[in-house]
Amino acid sequence: MTGTLSDENHLEALARQLSGVRVVDLFDAEGDRASDCRCEAAGLILDYSKHLLNKEAREALLQRAESADLSGSFENLTGGAPVNVTEERPALHTLLRGTRAGELPSLFTEVEKVNASLIRLVTDVHEGKRCGFARTPFTDVVNLGIGGSDFGPRMVCRALRSSGDRMTTHFVANVDPQDLDETLAQLNPATTFFIVCSKSFTTEETLTNALRARDWLLASGAGEDDVARHMVAVTTNISAAGSFGIQEADCFPIWDWVGGRYSLWSAVGLSVALQGGWSTFAKLLAGARSMDEHTQQATGKDNLPLMLSLLELWNTRYLDSDTHAVLPYSQRLEHLPDFLQQLSMESNGKRVDLSGAPLSEPTAPVLWGSAGTIGQHSYYQLLHQGNRRFTADIILPLTNDGVDRDAHRKLAANALAQSRALLTGRDTAAAQALAQERGQPEAFGPHYEMPGNHGHSLIYFNSVTPNALGALIAAYEHKTFFLSRLLGINAFDQWGVELGKVIGRRILKILETGEGFDAVDDATAVILRAWRDANPEP
Ligand code: F6P
Repeated sequence: MTGTLSDENHLEALARQLSGVRVVDLFDAEGDRASDCRCEAAGLILDYSKHLLNKEAREALLQRAESADLSGSFENLTGGAPVNVTEERPALHTLLRGTRAGELPSLFTEVEKVNASLIRLVTDVHEGKRCGFARTPFTDVVNLGIGGSDFGPRMVCRALRSSGDRMTTHFVANVDPQDLDETLAQLNPATTFFIVCSKSFTTEETLTNALRARDWLLASGAGEDDVARHMVAVTTNISAAGSFGIQEADCFPIWDWVGGRYSLWSAVGLSVALQGGWSTFAKLLAGARSMDEHTQQATGKDNLPLMLSLLELWNTRYLDSDTHAVLPYSQRLEHLPDFLQQLSMESNGKRVDLSGAPLSEPTAPVLWGSAGTIGQHSYYQLLHQGNRRFTADIILPLTNDGVDRDAHRKLAANALAQSRALLTGRDTAAAQALAQERGQPEAFGPHYEMPGNHGHSLIYFNSVTPNALGALIAAYEHKTFFLSRLLGINAFDQWGVELGKVIGRRILKILETGEGFDAVDDATAVILRAWRDANPEP
């Protein structure tokens, strides 16, 4: 924790004072609550009036942000300070969209150089100058990547898909062969273009899929030389991509100063540009840049990412909520929860502070969610009547061009109805009245009761355009960073995922050779033997 002891005590006391308070009553007490508890940035509006937060608690949180010098931290982040302390490097995703480019000219020249080569590639593919082994234009793109080399472009391509698209995009992440096989089964090898997207170019899933994709091309009539026309790499590890057989001119560099889950804005976003054209990608970058500028300039309660981070701190640290649902009421945003899950949980799912000292406070909440209204017929039951604390972001684009107006209206009605139900719940009297109406005894009343008072935000904007989406993603990136600074942790490493990879390599060896069982526990050995028995060598 980076706040002073008095900030901490004060916030704890304010949280205690608010326990038992109903947010609906705060609306009555504070006549201007609806307009006061909102901020606007780059076309997005954040309404946080339905959180259990009053003006005094908000002031104390803003004071906490002051004490943690969040604006100074943002200056350091965007200025290229080595904020990723364990990996000893900066995290300059903001530079990829041109933020503070003038202060980092040599790095930005690199970015512009790569962007120019990406534009050439996109143009060549779209104009059919670069085509497949049958000399026909490419129609489909398959991005082979995982984690940060998959979630961002997958989510954005899905969100921006339109009838005017230049190419159809597909994403394969899982090492389960079914994922690639089912994708390739729908495709024509002669017109399929692959992006091998891996910052490290060592990731088992991606390299396995890339080798299998290459075999598919060869088995479909492509010659060894033709394969090169069908594949490019996005990586920091140009030599490994070269050893794989991708020529240097087809390797689009990213840099170690860009974190994997923050890399959408680099060549990792190539599939976005191939799908919708470079101008789409440029607008995505511009939207994110607007949010960077807002975050740099807006102060206090007017700063949207700052408020998002303070709400998360307030709810997890002081109100004991440990799970956060992201509920986009937009099918276009169906992959947003997955993207945010990595962004938040891989960044802030930590247990020590920057100095390595253990943290006693909870860090990132468990983040999950799905596109509305589907979850309403599933886990919303727990939200309304379960006994766990949670918070939520309900995300609502107001328009969606070309869709059925009546159905679109119903979607909005559902979003706002859920927000209202989370706020008000159903009290004892109303529950009793319902039991009576159903001809049931009083004892049935509690089954119809819902506590409500569940803190949640509404984030709304006009429509899912590249600009709005860029701004939305950047807002969540900055929220994640601010939260990391409030907690005093490093948001840019992910050592927790490494152990599984190391053990995975050992286990794979046992499965391959049938030797080395003593390296694992007895229960694991039994399953390893069962797997080998079920999959005998041909
Ligand atoms: O899961 C760990 C991780 O390192 C993520 O941080 C990263 O986004 C993903 O693997 C993919 O890594 P790479 O782009 O190097 O293949």
